[in-house]
Amino acid sequence: MGKALIIGAGGVASVVAHKCAQNSDVFKEICIASRTLSKCDDIKESIKVRVPNSPTKIHTAQVDADRTELVVDLIRSFQPDIVVNVALPYQDLTIMDACLETGVHYLDTANYEPPDVAKFEYKWQWAYREKFNKAHITALLGSGFDPGVTGVFCAYAQKHYFDEIHSIDILDANAGDHGYPFATNFNPEINIREITANGSYFENGEFKETEPLSVKKTYDFPQIGPKNIYLLHHEEIESLAINIKGVKRIRFWMTFSDNYLNHLRVLENVGMTSIEPVEFEGKQIIPLQFLKALLPDPASLGPRTKGKTNIGCIFQGIKDGKPRTYYVYNVCDHQQCFEEVGSQAISYTTGVPAMIGAMMIMEGIWKKHGVYNIEEFDPDPFMEALNKWGLPWHEDFSPELLG
Ligand SMILES: NC(=O)c1ccc[n+]([C@@H]2O[C@H](COP(=O)([O-])OP(=O)(O)OC[C@H]3O[C@@H](n4cnc5c(N)ncnc54)[C@H](OP(=O)(O)O)[C@@H]3O)[C@@H](O)[C@H]2O)c1
Repeated sequence: MGKALIIGAGGVASVVAHKCAQNSDVFKEICIASRTLSKCDDIKESIKVRVPNSPTKIHTAQVDADRTELVVDLIRSFQPDIVVNVALPYQDLTIMDACLETGVHYLDTANYEPPDVAKFEYKWQWAYREKFNKAHITALLGSGFDPGVTGVFCAYAQKHYFDEIHSIDILDANAGDHGYPFATNFNPEINIREITANGSYFENGEFKETEPLSVKKTYDFPQIGPKNIYLLHHEEIESLAINIKGVKRIRFWMTFSDNYLNHLRVLENVGMTSIEPVEFEGKQIIPLQFLKALLPDPASLGPRTKGKTNIGCIFQGIKDGKPRTYYVYNVCDHQQCFEEVGSQAISYTTGVPAMIGAMMIMEGIWKKHGVYNIEEFDPDPFMEALNKWGLPWHEDFSPELLG
């Protein structure tokens, strides 16, 4: 039994908090802290309704997580066992600094991005390894779905099914329909920065870049049907290329509808997705941040979204001298998620693994000091917890391959 400080009060944070309240044997107390206190209070109210008999004690607090000293003050007053960072990737380092100063474990779901450069990579957070090790605390990086469960799937495939993994294709399909002409399923700024960046994949020891959204295939997803998928750069490729020994190729694919891409192209063409500040009526504004203010809040998509997600990994390699293929995936239904915790499946599939990762560390099931990506831990207890906490997975030993 322990205490978790959840930083952020968006779609993902809300799921983490609801799931912690469902898992009150582990999470005795939680504190939901974010920039806007009213959003933390709204989550607390929703938990009272949706998890009515939970003995988990819920606190809320206001914090600007860009300022380490304020996070330190909050940690000192609440005394959590772990900080679950589900604010934005820009806060990763300030929160890691606060954890180091107070000797508290750290977890996040997205790697650090400098606010003024559209580039995400692990080097900034990996640089904290020695410091976390010396402080006898753990930083678990990327405990969402992708990154997160996809890394656990890779560790599981490596442990149980392969002597050598030669290729990994990570497939992320969202067949949800929210009825808006254009909206993003999680933070629009982070989402659009990710999609408009160059694609890249890992092959034979090096990263190969592709023009944004220039590599396209069609895949027939179980329980969803055929969808167009596009090759993207995604952060877990960087750590998996190191941690899955001998892997020759890793690619990441995501579905986008033609309608979504048409809107995105128009917005890009007129400069609305730029992160370069522009002068407007005597004020500096960042077009992408202005666009975010116009788009529907991802948290508001929950009640409107119908359909399913399917996220998983297809592996090819060798077992006992023979070629083997293996596909492991989860299917999640937007409406079922909303009924349970008041959020759509994108937030749900991220928030559940964040709660599970926190549980692994708080319970001492995963015990390593330093900074680690999720695939560096034993996947078995996490796989078991996925089935128990709402993200059951399916296996297929002769899946359609991508070529
Ligand atoms: N691994 C995965 O599978 C996966 C998938 C989806 C998302 N994610 C990650 O999950 C995280 C949360 O996503 P989301 O969709 O929940 O985003 P969101 O709805 O935009 O919520 C972000 C929250 O962080 C708060 N925040 C921002 N800056 C802050 C600061 N300086 N101090 C304190 N709080 C601050 C925001 O406060 P305000 O309400 O005041 O703006 C908001 O409540 C993001 O890092 C995203 O990249 C990971």
